[in-house]
Amino acid sequence: MPDWQLEAAKPRDIDRILNIDRNAFDRPWQRRSFLEELDRKDAYTYVARTHADNGHVDIIAYVFVRILLKEMHVMRIAVEAGYQARGVATGLLQHCFKLAKQHQVSAMYIEVRPKNTSAIALYHKAGFQMLGTRPNYYPETGEDALVMVKHIKEQL
Ligand SMILES: CC(C)(COP(=O)(O)OP(=O)(O)OC[C@H]1O[C@@H](n2cnc3c(N)ncnc32)[C@H](O)[C@@H]1OP(=O)(O)O)[C@@H](O)C(=O)NCCC(=O)NCCS
Repeated sequence: MPDWQLEAAKPRDIDRILNIDRNAFDRPWQRRSFLEELDRKDAYTYVARTHADNGHVDIIAYVFVRILLKEMHVMRIAVEAGYQARGVATGLLQHCFKLAKQHQVSAMYIEVRPKNTSAIALYHKAGFQMLGTRPNYYPETGEDALVMVKHIKEQL
């Protein structure tokens, strides 16, 4: 059993999500961007919470996805540094796969920077394949994005 639980993200979680995001990314999202995702009808947003023995509850990871027609797009995923390499991101993705199946999604997509080798390894291990590149996807650096896809089958 994991020592964390998944729950739908709420506006009161945004400070903690922002904190994780700032530690995880060179170019963090703005508070407004996270709040907009929470408001979108096509967005599904989750946090992973730990429950310590002393009763302290903390958010250690989040995943934000959108479902557009029969496609799921992973918008943002990150795990607090002290909780990485414990299968948390894999658990978040597994939850998204179940959600995709419930919504009859046929494929799940994610864009990733070529230099983000840990994320690429995570997605490969979770069953994503390389689909191609989006040229100049990241405007700040002009970097291309790698596009990865996982086809969702009837039986996951
Ligand atoms: C990428 C990230 C989400 C992975 O989260 P995580 O909870 O540590 O991942 P998991 O423990 O589920 O790892 C699953 C697999 O991913 C790969 N992986 C994860 N971290 C890795 C690392 N630092 N180096 C190499 N492979 C790594 C491994 O294949 C791993 O399987 P293994 O444990 O059997 O070796 C996390 O490192 C993170 O938050 N990074 C910063 C934000 C980010 O880059 N998000 C993705 C943007 S596209």
